[in-house]
Amino acid sequence: MESQETKSDISLQKMREVKRLKSVEDRRVGSEVFDRITLKTLYKLANQGYIHLLNGAISTGKEANVFKGADEDGKIVAVKIYRVTTSDFKKMQYYIQGDPRFNVRSNNKRQLINNWVLKEFKNLNRACEVGVRVPKPIVAKNNVLVMEFIGDDDGSPARLMRQSKISNPKYVSDKIIDYVKKLYNDAELVHGDLSGFNILMQEDEPVIIDLSQGLVVDHPISEELLNRDIENLSKDFKKMGIEISHDEIKRKIMDL
Ligand SMILES: Nc1ncnc2c1ncn2[C@@H]1O[C@H](COP(=O)(O)OP(=O)(O)OP(=O)(O)O)[C@@H](O)[C@H]1O
Ligand SMILES: [Mg+2]
Repeated sequence: MESQETKSDISLQKMREVKRLKSVEDRRVGSEVFDRITLKTLYKLANQGYIHLLNGAISTGKEANVFKGADEDGKIVAVKIYRVTTSDFKKMQYYIQGDPRFNVRSNNKRQLINNWVLKEFKNLNRACEVGVRVPKPIVAKNNVLVMEFIGDDDGSPARLMRQSKISNPKYVSDKIIDYVKKLYNDAELVHGDLSGFNILMQEDEPVIIDLSQGLVVDHPISEELLNRDIENLSKDFKKMGIEISHDEIKRKIMDL
């Protein structure tokens, strides 16, 4: 009896502890996203009519938070905000240094993040130009990227391919391979973090997202990342019932 009480006491205390930690964590995340400069950036974007309001978090990731917002005409937009405190600067620095579009030798964290966001914006633009379905970028400012919202008309965000039931797997896999091919050959970019976790399904159409890691084909690690992207896709396609090997996907992308 006595031990039972002790047991329940401990678990009660643990629960309180978890609850307390969670609330601390929530506050921490809140202040991390909306630090002074981020708030200033959001105000500026609001003054310029890009974001009228932010209403609801879509995702809280490792480095960025994505919110649903509306512009001054009421059109829904997606707002991706990079957190300055939790970003992987070493990675950012490495990726940016090999990219001739950016001439940054800086160790300044904010400057790096701003360039990282600009890189995502440029990559999305380049992808759009060559006919790859991605969220259309609207504006990049400091650590904030505003882009087309991918979802339905009611404002529900689209689901990840990885978490969706795919009714037309052959069509979807062919389309994705064609997008990677266009990215590689026409936009001269490698996504670098491609998998079913960075592809949204808008109704039956795949939409590629999260091009922040995307790099130019002549970056020293582009080949390695392309191979990793292909490997991930091959596994995801298999889960959808489409058997296509790494080599076969690569041949299609390289147009051999
Ligand atoms: N344009 C968009 N429209 C609708 N939802 C979006 C859009 N962009 C991102 N999302 C949602 O937000 C999530 C995170 O976005 P994204 O993949 O770009 O960030 P991330 O850098 O991967 O974050 P993480 O730190 O989790 O890796 C996506 O999985 C998707 O659910
Ligand atoms: Mg992602």
